Amino acid sequence: MRVLVSGGAGYIGSHTVVQLVAAGHDVVIVDSFANSKPAVIGRLEALTGRHLPVHAFDLTDRDKTERLFADEAFDAVIHFAGLKAVGESAQIPLEYYENNLDSTFSLVRAMRRHGVNLLVFSSSATVYGEHAPLPYREDYAPLQSSSPYGRTKVMIEHVLSDVAAADPQMRVALLRYFNPVGAHASGTIGEDPQGIPNNLMPFIAQVAVGRRDKLTVFGDDYPTADGTCERDYIHVEDLAAGHVAALNKLASTQEPVSIWNLGTGQGTSVMEMLHAFERAVGRELPYDVGPRRAGDQPQSWADPAKANAELGWQTCKTIDDMCADTWRWQSANPTGYEG
Ligand code: NAD
Ligand code: WQD
Repeated sequence: MRVLVSGGAGYIGSHTVVQLVAAGHDVVIVDSFANSKPAVIGRLEALTGRHLPVHAFDLTDRDKTERLFADEAFDAVIHFAGLKAVGESAQIPLEYYENNLDSTFSLVRAMRRHGVNLLVFSSSATVYGEHAPLPYREDYAPLQSSSPYGRTKVMIEHVLSDVAAADPQMRVALLRYFNPVGAHASGTIGEDPQGIPNNLMPFIAQVAVGRRDKLTVFGDDYPTADGTCERDYIHVEDLAAGHVAALNKLASTQEPVSIWNLGTGQGTSVMEMLHAFERAVGRELPYDVGPRRAGDQPQSWADPAKANAELGWQTCKTIDDMCADTWRWQSANPTGYEG
């Protein structure tokens, strides 16, 4: 298929581009580089051995989006583009609602106009909110989220479901990612957060490489085995494979909307992750324990059975793989893509 990958220069998009090309798809990237570096494209071309066409513009621009679809033919769209920092979304909510919703409207509008029917969307486990029972299952309702970021995902899930229900040609996959970590085994592409990392794994990696003094563990008095929060960390390569599987499935399914959890089904605590990273690096890493972070759930993990059964997909990487691959990327690129 000829696949338009929005946000293809970003962390998850870039890893998915490599696997799409390996699976025989033609890839076109659109990215504003609002949260990524153009340098990633050269790395992707080296990994894939292909020239990758890139359109550098903001998808909230409806005219440019329309022109792209008028000029080029696509079979499918994978829509990663969006702003994703939970804390920042509470500081600048309007920017989050505008960017994430308007980019989706403009993309789906152009898809409808030009008869592009297959859409894979990056949703998130955050849509399960505070009250869903563990493990999280796709049939849980009502969706809700405690952040403006998360609410953009809930809203977009509703928008895409409504659009697909009204159009017999359209097939939409809503992929609910759990906690993506890790990097490509080559160590040439990986997560490159701008500023102070919000997420656990890149923070630990920056402590290990000497960019940060120590990790602060956000609370050790949760009702879990070691008192720290537990999450379903999924290797970005397993996650990327889930997109290739979802795209293939969309091409044959009769379901207008398919929802799939992409997770391992296993919880790992903050302390377990820190110790796994220490094994990867071969030394202890400094940390202290601070107060809880507002909004954190004690535990979150997927029931991946639906994705396993319907996509013929399952995760194969371990926590130690996630740490070893993150460390290979971080140690080879201590300051990210512009080192
Ligand atoms: P990322 O920030 O690395 O990648 C997103 C890319 O989209 C960036 O390259 C950015 O420049 C681009 N972008 C943003 N707004 C755009 C716009 N209006 N027009 C064009 N390009 C735009 O993030 P990621 O971690 O790769 O996440 C990809 C998607 O997955 C996002 O939608 C995110 O919300 C979702 N998601 C991420 C996680 C996670 O923990 N990383 C978890 C669940 C869901
Ligand atoms: C994991 C654990 C922290 C940093 C977020 C979004 C979610 C999804 C994935 C997009 C928690 C603890 C963290 C640190 C710490 N993204 N931690 N010290 O919050 O599970 O999920 O990313 O959709 O929507 O909310 O991930 O990596 O921020 O935190 O102790 O410096 O690590 O308290 O328990 P989270 P995270």
